[in-house]
Amino acid sequence: MWGGRFAEGPSALMREINASIGFDKRLWRQDLRASKAHVAMLGAQGIVSKEDAAAISDGLDRIAAEYEAKGVPEDAALEDIHMHVEHRLAELIGPAAGRLHTARSRNDQVATDFRLWVRDALDEVDAGLAALQRALVRRAEEQAETVMPGFTHLQVAQPVTLGHHLMAWYEMLRRDRSRFADARARLNQCPLGAAALAGTSFPIDRHATAAALGFDRPTANSLDSVSDRDFALDYLMAATQCALHLSRMAEEFVIWASQPYGFITLPDAYSTGSSIMPQKRNPDAAELVRGHSGRIAGAMTSLVMTMKGLPLAYSKDMQDDKPPVFEAHDLLALSIAAMAGMVETTTFNADRMRAAAETGHSTATDLADWLVRVAGIPFREAHHVTGRVVRLADEQAVALWELPLEALQAIDPRIDASVFDVLSLDASVKSRTSHGGTAPQAVRERIREAKAALEMD
Ligand code: ARG
Repeated sequence: MWGGRFAEGPSALMREINASIGFDKRLWRQDLRASKAHVAMLGAQGIVSKEDAAAISDGLDRIAAEYEAKGVPEDAALEDIHMHVEHRLAELIGPAAGRLHTARSRNDQVATDFRLWVRDALDEVDAGLAALQRALVRRAEEQAETVMPGFTHLQVAQPVTLGHHLMAWYEMLRRDRSRFADARARLNQCPLGAAALAGTSFPIDRHATAAALGFDRPTANSLDSVSDRDFALDYLMAATQCALHLSRMAEEFVIWASQPYGFITLPDAYSTGSSIMPQKRNPDAAELVRGHSGRIAGAMTSLVMTMKGLPLAYSKDMQDDKPPVFEAHDLLALSIAAMAGMVETTTFNADRMRAAAETGHSTATDLADWLVRVAGIPFREAHHVTGRVVRLADEQAVALWELPLEALQAIDPRIDASVFDVLSLDASVKSRTSHGGTAPQAVRERIREAKAALEMD
């Protein structure tokens, strides 16, 4: 390729450290697509003849068919996917192949290919997240009335509905999808035609290639075009935040599946056994979603470290941008699918959830609120009175609603029998009708909105 300038070939070690074909072969579809757009433009602009442009385009189609059928052959001497394609093209169509690389460089070529790849990855992740959201909304609707403990500090705090908890996850994913959408909008500019770094003197039409490849417009500065990997970092940062959410969901699956909780039973399809303990059912899929999130965050950190000190424009360090993105994407897509599978198939044990919500005096706040609302007591004093009621219930080892009215009145004579209307779990959750609250009615309202939004996807 650059043999004219060199008297000797590269050492074996130079070849080995330089070769990226082992991983960048994943860009082959994008590379062929971008090359086809480029050569069509070269033909249209009269930069290469119509005949050569047609021969090159046909050759690229034949290479696509070969790679589709047999995979990309790997030759470390050919360094990367771009050289593999060009080399094969020369074998297929002869010297005209050499005209494809007119008015471009591998620097703008790889920047274009990789943007196309990340754009596809963003679309795949978005579709996966939409499916996971649909599963959550479906299960939330089914569990809109199911009472479970809500926790703070992992201590029973106030009763909530399972539907509300599932919809909290839906909201987390909604923000993830909006971050991926932002990343996509920023990514969608075409670097092709920036050439090595300075642009080109050939009369190219960058608007035409940008449009042919589905980009909104060409990038604005040739130096920036070949040195910018923000789109990959945007993807990795959004992926990290999404993985972090999946990890938190997975953690709750792990806790809920444990025997002391027993809130869920994971199906066989998402559990594993133990080689020594015959009774075991382990939530390995959830644990691996949790584990993979660490690797995804690591991939993000890896590219940050690669990019942080690079001067304009291209440096070969940037070849290392691909492995972390590929790894993170594979792990994320798998984690999203596994999480959707678990959400769809898990059995919720409503009786265990209710029993847990009955512990820890989870309706104490309802009693305090009642004292404020009905008896007109200031909240701080109501908090104190309620604290004494809780202490009494603890001493007698009963739930708040099991205390006799006389015992409550001995603590504060302003309490009357209507207090029992608010002490039960169901009364508590039904009363929390504020916007975004846990009442089945409020949750169903949000589910309606979510369904409408998902239908528009
Ligand atoms: N394989 C290279 C990469 O992934 C392609 C660009 C090579 N450009 C260069 N000037 N050596 O970054």
